[in-house]
Amino acid sequence: MKTVIINIKELVQVDDKARLLVKGKDMAKLGTIKDAYLIINGEIIEDYGKMADLPAKLISKNSDNQIIDATGKIVFPSFCDSHTHLVYAGSREIEYSDKIRGLSYEEIAKRGGGILNSAKLLHQTSEDELYLQALGRANEIISQGTGAVEIKSGYGLNAEDEIKILRVIKRLKETTALLIKSTFLGAHAVPQEYKSNPDDYVDLIINEMIPQVAAEDLADYIDVFCDKGFFTVEQTDRILLAGMKYGMRAKIHANELAKSGGIQVGVKYNALSVDHIEYTEDEEIEVLLKSDTMPTILPGAAFFLNMPFAPARKMMDAGLPVAIASDYNPGSSPTGNMKLMMSFACVNYKMLPEEAIHAATINSAYAMGISDLVGSISKGKIANLIITEKIPSFSFLPYAYGSNLINSVILKGKEIAV
Ligand code: NIG
Ligand code: FE
Repeated sequence: MKTVIINIKELVQVDDKARLLVKGKDMAKLGTIKDAYLIINGEIIEDYGKMADLPAKLISKNSDNQIIDATGKIVFPSFCDSHTHLVYAGSREIEYSDKIRGLSYEEIAKRGGGILNSAKLLHQTSEDELYLQALGRANEIISQGTGAVEIKSGYGLNAEDEIKILRVIKRLKETTALLIKSTFLGAHAVPQEYKSNPDDYVDLIINEMIPQVAAEDLADYIDVFCDKGFFTVEQTDRILLAGMKYGMRAKIHANELAKSGGIQVGVKYNALSVDHIEYTEDEEIEVLLKSDTMPTILPGAAFFLNMPFAPARKMMDAGLPVAIASDYNPGSSPTGNMKLMMSFACVNYKMLPEEAIHAATINSAYAMGISDLVGSISKGKIANLIITEKIPSFSFLPYAYGSNLINSVILKGKEIAV
């Protein structure tokens, strides 16, 4: 039995060449087929094309194929969200008020709030409870159209609690339909007790945490918050090298709070992505142009913290690819809604809807090392799809920024109730 989606008003992000990323001017060119069909065989996109070319036997009364009629609806590949911290305990809306009263992200962090606050709460939360909270968020992002997601540790800040988070991520890999990549982010903040000796904490990450994480095979990637007030370029260098010895490729938080040198150190180690990158100038663009590293913007964090916006337009005009991700976390982006991220990307970063769609699908899949599997409508890729409500055009998705518009989702070939 196959699943045949028929009468699709427009099939969007079709790429016969199955490119692994899309950059520069090409980001504004989106492959689509109007009045289309799509065939799913098991977990896989088997074929697609114009309705006029659909072999009649596939939808005849005698066939046992499942037919989905998408009249008036648009089909997209599911969103890929290459940067989240969605395994966390509780929430931090108290800081929300502090921020509104005028305290900066750095000031809140200095007072022991921020990431350290989440670490305290996480320490007091059992692994099962943490899993249930994270599962709720995973189901929420599925209903909002996300099909693949990267999730980081980083609210543990000691070996035991970091491993607790990574085990929860592993459980989510096993129990949800999401395609998940996990990242070890022990270097998310320096715990209070190491404030006067941060290098001792770096030693702990390198000598204890990384080997333990590797022994349980809990992390695909390694991340460091390389920024003013957090980890220096030298510390980042040491941590990335230590992780790479165990096969964890770098993906880093860079240049969110200052021109930190984070982009350069990421590129030096062939990072899969450098993320945030609000403070990016010509020098960093030049470095990125000579690399295989995906510049990733996090429009939710910049919106929520009222930060300067990364120069996405300038990067694309210079020929770079750009990815967008939600950064779903309790401190700087308490949502994983990728459709909303596309709206922010269009309005605040001057990205065209076509560019934002590439950024939220194929390029964000690249930023987590899975663009050979998902991120476009291409034969042989995993059937991770969004079927919209009846809408006038694909641009309507980021345009109507407050409406849900996701009618149903298909993950690994199966329809999921949303
Ligand atoms: O990506 N920048 C560092 N980490 C997160 C924020 C984490 C938090 O505040 O809890 C981010 O924005
Ligand atoms: Fe982050």
